[in-house]
Amino acid sequence: MAIPKALRRLIRNAVLDLDGYVPVEPVEAVAERIGKPVDEIIRLHMNENPYGTSMRVQEVLASFDHYQEYPDADQRVARERIAAYTGAPSQRIIIGNGSDELIDLLLLATIDPGDEVIVPTPTFGVYESRTPLFGGVVRRVPRTADFDLDIDAITQAVTERTKLIFVTAPNNPTGNMPTTQQIVRLLRTGALIVADEAYYEFSGKTFLPLAREFDNLVILRTFSKWAGLAGMRLGYAILPDALAAELWKVKQPFNVSTAGLKAIEAVLDDIDYLQQTVNRIKIERGRLYRGLRKLNFLQPYPSQGNFILCRVTRGDAHDIHRRLERRGILVRKYSDPDLRNYLRITVGRPEHTDALMAALRGMAGEI
Ligand SMILES: Cc1ncc(COP(=O)(O)O)c(C=O)c1O
Repeated sequence: MAIPKALRRLIRNAVLDLDGYVPVEPVEAVAERIGKPVDEIIRLHMNENPYGTSMRVQEVLASFDHYQEYPDADQRVARERIAAYTGAPSQRIIIGNGSDELIDLLLLATIDPGDEVIVPTPTFGVYESRTPLFGGVVRRVPRTADFDLDIDAITQAVTERTKLIFVTAPNNPTGNMPTTQQIVRLLRTGALIVADEAYYEFSGKTFLPLAREFDNLVILRTFSKWAGLAGMRLGYAILPDALAAELWKVKQPFNVSTAGLKAIEAVLDDIDYLQQTVNRIKIERGRLYRGLRKLNFLQPYPSQGNFILCRVTRGDAHDIHRRLERRGILVRKYSDPDLRNYLRITVGRPEHTDALMAALRGMAGEI
């Protein structure tokens, strides 16, 4: 939208220059467009947990009767639960309004105008889209042809202005994990290494033990994926002691709602149920991968997350996306030129895999 000159003057250039986040079309709008009831739409586009969260969370939220009070700004009980779950001391944990908020807080606490942030691409878009807002400059370092980190290129890109290096483990959308040696090499650069472990519960691998040796490692986790709580917006960071104290200064006092804090306590009291859903998703990931591999127009990549990236080897990714959408199946497509001919498919329930595979097999002759 064209902005009047008088108003333009009042807005920061970093904001004027920002492309802005283009949200995924709401599922209600898609349903209306394709003429299907919303609850028949199969959501394989947002890496959500198709089993939902546990009943215990729903019961706790429904029976809690102190919503008139502000939440605990110290997040004390929820942080203690996370400490018990992760083995990290609670004073090094900060809970955010989704791990997205923690990315903002890290940038807010570290970036002076012109400081640099290294982003190995392709990866989760938020690191790159938020950095300029805080005056930071993004240095994109492409991954190798098979999406491995190019550690030599990353270390060469480090300058005295480099503050943060984001490493997603496993990476979204490519599904692969960095190795411990790679992370150690990055830690030795002295920049703050942010290991985004949003999909940790699906990979079972963490770099947290390295925090005993290095004081420049940040681990990010979320309850959005494994715990089925994307709608509650709950993530956490495990930080070096001194950095936790600085982030604590910039965090809004009541950044996480009482409902969110209670949900964390309930989830971590009911870990067995959620672990079962994680196991089911991991089994289904194998079945989906094997099914996708049999198609002669998609090349799936092995994944340690709850999603599988596919290269479209025949036909056009956006066309396949459209055809699936017409059948009520949503997958993730990309406008980023690096990923223009790829699709990311979230692992759903077995019946979702069946519907997806039937739709894909049905279109094999047409594309
Ligand atoms: C790698 C990665 N980090 C962070 C997030 C955001 O998580 P949250 O919902 O906790 O903000 C996502 C969500 O897609 C992600 O893929």
